[in-house]
Amino acid sequence: MDYRLLGRTGVYVSPLCLGCMMFGARTEPDDAYAIIDRAIDRGVNFLDTANAYSRGRSEEITGEALKRNGKRDRVVLATKVHGRMDDEDPNAGGTSRRHIMQQCDASLKRLQTDWIDLYQLHRPHSEIAIDETLGALDDLVRAGKIRYIGTSTFAAWQVMESIMVSRERGFNRVVCEQPPLNLLDRRVERELIPFARTYGLGVIPWSPLGGGLLSGKYRDRNDLPKDSRFGRAKLSPMQQRRLTDAIWNPLDAYHRFCEARGWKPSQAALAWCRDRPGVTSPIIGPRTMEQLEDNLGSLELALSEEDLEELDAIFAPGEMISPFYDADFGPGLFR
Ligand SMILES: NC(=O)c1ccc[n+]([C@@H]2O[C@H](COP(=O)([O-])OP(=O)(O)OC[C@H]3O[C@@H](n4cnc5c(N)ncnc54)[C@H](OP(=O)(O)O)[C@@H]3O)[C@@H](O)[C@H]2O)c1
Repeated sequence: MDYRLLGRTGVYVSPLCLGCMMFGARTEPDDAYAIIDRAIDRGVNFLDTANAYSRGRSEEITGEALKRNGKRDRVVLATKVHGRMDDEDPNAGGTSRRHIMQQCDASLKRLQTDWIDLYQLHRPHSEIAIDETLGALDDLVRAGKIRYIGTSTFAAWQVMESIMVSRERGFNRVVCEQPPLNLLDRRVERELIPFARTYGLGVIPWSPLGGGLLSGKYRDRNDLPKDSRFGRAKLSPMQQRRLTDAIWNPLDAYHRFCEARGWKPSQAALAWCRDRPGVTSPIIGPRTMEQLEDNLGSLELALSEEDLEELDAIFAPGEMISPFYDADFGPGLFR
């Protein structure tokens, strides 16, 4: 496995991170334990979850898997805070000192561990001063509860602001950003990624398969695969926005591109994302063991300059065909 340094930390992570969002949602605990074990056996040492995934269930299942297999020490464990954890309590979400302190302890308990390796702000929060948030995170580092601080889906200027505040106040700084990046939404290539490369920030893209749209199974807009994320009866408004009319022609061209090379679309999309300059480790989100095996197979694949140019002709650099990234969600994202 070609381990990579996570930003300018001294920590090596695998070139694929295992996302645990499906666990407790559409993947049963026993299947999730098996997926986690298999990924670790194959050399994956990086796991990503969030307090908000199934309101704590994903963290509980991930923690239980690591307790059962005894591999906690070998894993770089990432989780997040910001998502709403209770519908009634106005303070049960966001990035206030109060909520962060409370949720960090709750995450440690659910994960059955004494420390979190990478503690990420799930989103920026337009109503809470970054000074308050960073002060709380810095205290958590100093208390030994978290090792490193990260952000997710921040604009470049917001991460930059946090670095400036950390400098001014002597706080530990953000070491990693988790943005959406896939062939259908390449907007972070414009500013965030050049910024991350300049400042030595790790970049761990979410939805590298566009939530599965790039997996090769979406061929016909009138016949979406049953039981797939976008083919299920009830789509969230966010999912509806992503299933745009504009995706179908590029997807056709992409399938032809892969067929000409004998590649699986899922694996080519992951290899593309993994080897983007500035990218540390895309976060895969397998729902089943079969999908995990398929996703891991992408590690055998590398794209040539000619391949990349052909892909750029289908999915233009810096452009978006289906919206995954939203610049300012404000405070209400998880309300
Ligand atoms: N920071 C954030 O805001 C944020 C947001 C989203 C995700 N994430 C993180 O990123 C991780 C990955 O996100 P994601 O799940 O959206 O990633 P993704 O890789 O874009 O999509 C994964 C989904 O695609 C489908 N799929 C995967 N492999 C397949 C294959 N070989 N054949 C057919 N279908 C396949 C499965 O969905 P179906 O089988 O259900 O169709 C699977 O759950 C999450 O687990 C989470 O840790 C973070």
